[in-house]
Amino acid sequence: MKKEDKPWADVGATDQFKAGEPARVDYLEEHRDGWIETSSLRSAWVVRQADSSFVVFNPKCTHLGCPYSWEPDTRQFLCPCHTGIFDITGKVISGPPPRPLDRFQHKVEDGRLFVREEAPRVG
Ligand code: FES
Repeated sequence: MKKEDKPWADVGATDQFKAGEPARVDYLEEHRDGWIETSSLRSAWVVRQADSSFVVFNPKCTHLGCPYSWEPDTRQFLCPCHTGIFDITGKVISGPPPRPLDRFQHKVEDGRLFVREEAPRVG
């Protein structure tokens, strides 16, 4: 059984992203529970590919969930908590992360990029 997926979030115009240059985006994720509407600040790493397709990474390291950043000089993602290093495709280069970076779903509509996290799988 699967809980309902989270809503799509608009993270900006596709042409603001340059191919091969990962960009962190921050966005508000809207939630509705009955009459109560709330929003929470989320972020993601967007990588535009040479063919203009996109890959969107969960901003939490797959080791223990620390936020990581893109290092333009080495062209790698670096997690400072335990020196986890990933390449631009999310593959682990070194350190303790047990798997590649997790990805968010994404879609392009009317020149804008939308992302969403998948709901946790249950059962
Ligand atoms: S949390 Fe990223 S390397 Fe440990």
